[in-house]
Amino acid sequence: MAIVSSITNHSPFPNDRGEERLVGPSLLKEEFKLSQQDSLRPKSFDNFLGQSELKKVLAISVKASLKRGEALDHLMLYGPPGLGKTTMALIIAEELGVKARVTSAPALERPRDIVGLLINMQPRELIFVDEIHRLNSISQELLYPAMEDRRLDLTVGKGTSSRMRSIEIPPFTLVGATTKPAALSSPMRDRFGITQRLDFYNDDDLKNIIKRSAKLLNLSISEEASEHLAKRSRGTPRIANRLIRRVRDYAEVHSSSKTIDAHIVSDALYLHRVDQRGLDATDRSYLGLIIDQYQGGPVGLETLAAGLGEDSTTIETVVEPYLMQIGFLKRTSRGRVVTPAAEKHYLLVS
Ligand SMILES: Nc1ncnc2c1ncn2[C@@H]1O[C@H](COP(=O)(O)OP(=O)(O)OP(=O)(O)O)[C@@H](O)[C@H]1O
Ligand SMILES: [Mg+2]
Repeated sequence: MAIVSSITNHSPFPNDRGEERLVGPSLLKEEFKLSQQDSLRPKSFDNFLGQSELKKVLAISVKASLKRGEALDHLMLYGPPGLGKTTMALIIAEELGVKARVTSAPALERPRDIVGLLINMQPRELIFVDEIHRLNSISQELLYPAMEDRRLDLTVGKGTSSRMRSIEIPPFTLVGATTKPAALSSPMRDRFGITQRLDFYNDDDLKNIIKRSAKLLNLSISEEASEHLAKRSRGTPRIANRLIRRVRDYAEVHSSSKTIDAHIVSDALYLHRVDQRGLDATDRSYLGLIIDQYQGGPVGLETLAAGLGEDSTTIETVVEPYLMQIGFLKRTSRGRVVTPAAEKHYLLVS
């Protein structure tokens, strides 16, 4: 499978201030290059660990479309960053035996970007559009007839002599990925035949991902160390792979043993201030603010943002989802409230 990439301005920064978190789910600046030739990225359904429901559904659709010799239905993948949307799209192209053209909404701003993408396609090719919720309305209008009727409607000429010309395009599969499905326009949403959500991974799946990555990196790792890393990976393979690389660095410098054990994991992550639940200093300041200054809440998002000197969107999209997922935080109509489990953890680590 060939991958043609036209991503031009994908921002690897997780927040406006350009600060990067070891346990943030978005790509770090230093990982951007790595992600383009990601040696840890699974290349087949079999190597894509976890998400069994998703794999089942997609494997059936892929098999059926191969049997019929048709292009796979347009597919929408959504879910938090780092869970494998891009990876799954590339696997599908591989399993279909077709070329994947990889792009993202910010690279498709002008009509000619879309035309350029669709005009030279071979039949049944896969087009992957990342951050599809960011497509502007002109680009969306061009995509609708292309997705539905395999037709590109182009305006030729200018002013009074301009007219509409339709060009037929080959059957293709559009795979759209988004972390914000609610931001997608409803006509766009309706044009996807298959819509699938990626969920956070459980500890067992993460443990398997860690073991697989360790093997690919020629590392030997103990069961206990894989378990510890899994617990700190925030349900996210991207974070799991990042932590294992950091632990490898630490082990190379500080340990004579060839095997990564639980002690090395604890020491390495202590150095990076990542605690037993995968929380970092930002998470702990957030919890600390609610617990110490607002008696556990409820407290409003804007108040918390001001108290932490952070932007409220960053808090809402980067800090809070994981805290809610592990049952440390509740969003109520009166504001944010921490749970007793969060208070217990905070007392233990602070
Ligand atoms: N199921 C999996 N098994 C093993 N490794 C995985 C799996 N899913 C993802 N990964 C690894 O996690 C990393 C992040 O995956 P990917 O880039 O596909 O996430 P994404 O959902 O597209 O994130 P974003 O929303 O930021 O674009 C990749 O390095 C990939 O190798
Ligand atoms: Mg992606």
